[in-house]
Amino acid sequence: MSERQDLAGRHIVLGLSGGVACYKAAELTRELVKAGATVQVVMTEAAEAFITPVTLQALSGRPVYTSQWDARPDNNMAHINLSREADAILIAPASADFIARLVQGRADELLSLLCLARPIERVPLLVAPAMNREMWAHPATQRNVAQLRADGATVLGPAAGDQACGEVGDGRMLEPAELRDELIAFFQPKLLAGRRLLITAGPTFEAIDPVRGITNHSSGKMGFAIARAAQEAGADVTLVAGPVHLPTPRHVRRIDVQSAQQMHDAVLPLAARHEVFVATAAVADWRPAQMNAHKIKKDGKKVAPAFELTENPDILAAVAALPQAPYCVGFAAESEHLLQHAREKLLRKKVPLIVGNLGPATFGRDDNTLVLVDADGHRELPTADKLSLARALVCELAERLKTSAK
Ligand SMILES: Cc1cc2nc3c(=O)[nH]c(=O)nc-3n(C[C@H](O)[C@H](O)[C@H](O)COP(=O)(O)O)c2cc1C
Repeated sequence: MSERQDLAGRHIVLGLSGGVACYKAAELTRELVKAGATVQVVMTEAAEAFITPVTLQALSGRPVYTSQWDARPDNNMAHINLSREADAILIAPASADFIARLVQGRADELLSLLCLARPIERVPLLVAPAMNREMWAHPATQRNVAQLRADGATVLGPAAGDQACGEVGDGRMLEPAELRDELIAFFQPKLLAGRRLLITAGPTFEAIDPVRGITNHSSGKMGFAIARAAQEAGADVTLVAGPVHLPTPRHVRRIDVQSAQQMHDAVLPLAARHEVFVATAAVADWRPAQMNAHKIKKDGKKVAPAFELTENPDILAAVAALPQAPYCVGFAAESEHLLQHAREKLLRKKVPLIVGNLGPATFGRDDNTLVLVDADGHRELPTADKLSLARALVCELAERLKTSAK
């Protein structure tokens, strides 16, 4: 996803304090640079015991700062210059000791000094803790982290899992790609702050017997991109996913299902609690009327088995017909006459917006072209990667929610 250069034009001060997770900071620097950011690395003395400035200078393309006494700046005030140039300061890894210093407003070395000296309204501070689980769980650290949040910092993670010391628990630094995505999300406008979205994605799988079934080519990528974009925009997102092997977007609640009936049963009780329902999933219209309890075998007579099909419930129409229906957005994946089919779907399902796309042209791909169809007409969202389109759809939704609330 970094090809999209989501951090283009952003200048990030990446601060490293002393912890084993400093080894991940090298990869993080690469990820941020690949996403288009310029990265200025600043290290504490302890961080230099774990990784050399040479590596970080090479990866960031900028000399690393390690001392407040550095005489390179003309004014000899690296802490002022660096903090004013930054669009954000990200401390990764943030040691327990460094967090304690931030909380106390200490300024006895360059990194804590520049955090204290930053224009607090304009330069956000993001902190990625990394430490042993006992250090993390200690009341002193928990107190400090709570205070850090109260002072306006954003705390990223930590994650749970295997630790360098051999113990297992909370305190691992988030992975570089996760931190990159957290930063990208941080900069997205919060157009859906406080809104609750329910999204379906992927194909469904309609079993014929225990080993076979009817499905389709939907990859789930468009629906997952919408879930990510909505979450980045500040929404609380529940994603009901058919059988796909995609990672769950960060901070999104995911419910996995297989069949259309299961998707229906998962969605319906949740729908009224959400303000928006986006039905991206390519739900099978029909399923085999009977599921064979055992694998259907060739009988040697070369007679192909015949299946009777029965209609699946219409999830979108059912949600749209609820007394407390959320704002409903349907997707039409067609193979021809896209506009005509999308418009028919709009009327048939009685929803305010249908998003049309050509299934065969987009299933499994990273890009797509969308056409938004409503009662007033249609508008195309030109070909782009699915996350960019999802963000455009989020803007569109935010506008429509404003109007529908009036
Ligand atoms: C091998 C080793 C690993 C350490 N790992 C961590 C760690 O992961 N997290 C942490 O908070 N402190 C860790 N420490 C302790 C910090 O390095 C120590 O508190 C140091 O003073 C932090 O300095 P700083 O906050 O100025 O960077 C480790 C120490 C050693 C010797």
